[in-house]
Amino acid sequence: VAPLKVGIAGLGTVGAEVVRLIETQARVLAGRSGRGIRVVAVTARSKAKKRGVDLRGVDWAKDPISLATHPEVDCFVELMGGAGDPALSAVEAALGAGKSVVTANKALLAKHGLKLAKAAEKNGGALNFEAAVGAAIPVIKTLREGLAGTGINRVYGILNGTCNYILTRMEQEGLSFAECLKDAQRLGYAEANPSFDVDGHDTAQKLAILASLAFGTKVAQSAVYVEGISSIAPEDLRAADDLGYRLKLLGVAVRTAKGIEQRVHPTMVPKSSSIAQVMGVTNAVTIDGEGIPPITLVGPGAGGAATASAVVADIADVARGIRANPFGRPISQLRDTQKAPMERH
Ligand code: HSE
Repeated sequence: VAPLKVGIAGLGTVGAEVVRLIETQARVLAGRSGRGIRVVAVTARSKAKKRGVDLRGVDWAKDPISLATHPEVDCFVELMGGAGDPALSAVEAALGAGKSVVTANKALLAKHGLKLAKAAEKNGGALNFEAAVGAAIPVIKTLREGLAGTGINRVYGILNGTCNYILTRMEQEGLSFAECLKDAQRLGYAEANPSFDVDGHDTAQKLAILASLAFGTKVAQSAVYVEGISSIAPEDLRAADDLGYRLKLLGVAVRTAKGIEQRVHPTMVPKSSSIAQVMGVTNAVTIDGEGIPPITLVGPGAGGAATASAVVADIADVARGIRANPFGRPISQLRDTQKAPMERH
């Protein structure tokens, strides 16, 4: 069988790690996929930058669209980020050409997921995005495939590693918000614009994706009520502590009589609860299914290696010829029952 030919747009920490994993894990991946996986073309802002990976023999496309429509590329891997262009038009171009797409771009999916899933459905390519939520935690697969036969009542959790890292260090070391954020940036956890992390929008994007998969509704970030952590001070954490609580930024999507409610805000959780034990850059997602006790997935939610791990797993699925409905159901079956954002209460 011919190898799957991959084109990667974006060679930051995640992209470079994906190239490295495809090379070092080649035998394992070929065993799992039944065929080889080869990076044939890439594009990135700088060709000269040192990345510590071997790109000899790999074609440099002149821009993301040329890569997305590159005649050699079967699977376009989008790791540039951002809800708009160039990521949007490149992913549309790849899907339009019938190629499969793997992306870690939660912003793009939360805003344009429905349109992109339609394009994938129409043209037959896969649209895989395990890395968009919870990095290495296989939460998309769990909702889409593992729990395909279970009705879901609620999905909630800690979905932003940067915020949880900041809250943890503020609480444990009494450091200021600004100091902790700087460290999260240095460690490569934060978004290029860290206000997406600390103002809760990154969590909202991930929650919108999970809610769509859990409830069969159309993905829509605009339906999420959002409040972040930027005004939280070490004293707030101490006050919570005195009362037996810990502050966590939670994303919650729940089935109600009036539709699906989705919200993101700092929440006091009892110190004895399992969600309160989740510290540092770790993410946790709890899924309440009908008739079964809750399932909680915990693991690294940010960082180059954790994100690349999920991207490579998605590429392996494309190589195996597995093609899931991106949001778990055919587009025609996705319902429009998300409530508008809640008022502050
Ligand atoms: N900035 C994100 C976070 C990266 O901190 O969780 C992973 O999506």
